[in-house]
Amino acid sequence: MTIAAHQQRAESLLHAAGILPVVTVHTLEQARAVSAALLEGGLPAIELTLRTPVAMEALAMLKRELPDVVVGAGTVLTVEQMQQAIDAGADFLVTPGTPAHMADALAAAPLPVVPGAASPTELLALYARGFRVCKLFPASAVGGLAMIKGLAGPIPDLKLCPTGGITETTAAEYLEQKNVVCIGGSWMVPNNWIESGDWEKVKTSAAAAAQIVSRVRTR
Ligand code: 3PG
Repeated sequence: MTIAAHQQRAESLLHAAGILPVVTVHTLEQARAVSAALLEGGLPAIELTLRTPVAMEALAMLKRELPDVVVGAGTVLTVEQMQQAIDAGADFLVTPGTPAHMADALAAAPLPVVPGAASPTELLALYARGFRVCKLFPASAVGGLAMIKGLAGPIPDLKLCPTGGITETTAAEYLEQKNVVCIGGSWMVPNNWIESGDWEKVKTSAAAAAQIVSRVRTR
């Protein structure tokens, strides 16, 4: 499959998700329970960060035990991690930023990828390589809505998944932007809820997030 086909799949997958919870877990049990709560709340796709020692094993476990959860590997920083995440069964990959050697590897990867970038120059470098769906990170810190609106003029066919600093309150306005395909965030999976096993709170907050997607899309 070509990069264009993989990018189309990435766009469909992110559009179907609408909101992508950024999940960090320290145990397999946390991974299982938080993913199940998000799924029950109406958010079936997650970005599981590779920031903890258990992350890769959690990714493989989720693909085995919760087949209805769409699992993206996030915080993919190296080509080695990229390959491990693919081997573990990741449905897609996300990077927080994309140096040239990672862009090369991601362009050749056999699955949908969402490379991260923080500026027009970085986004245009990815665009030139054939990427059409990118993560804008850290979105609120690099200009937020004003930046996203500014990018729609010169590169209207580049779709963004802004992530970083988005809250339940600001989510709808981000999602309404014509060049935004999906938004990412951790507000529905804060660390303290995961540590204390507050799965009902995760489920309620995921349901509220899913409602935001429905409201914005039916306007
Ligand atoms: C992250 O990398 O932690 C994500 O971008 C989540 O950002 P947020 O916690 O600001 O939503």
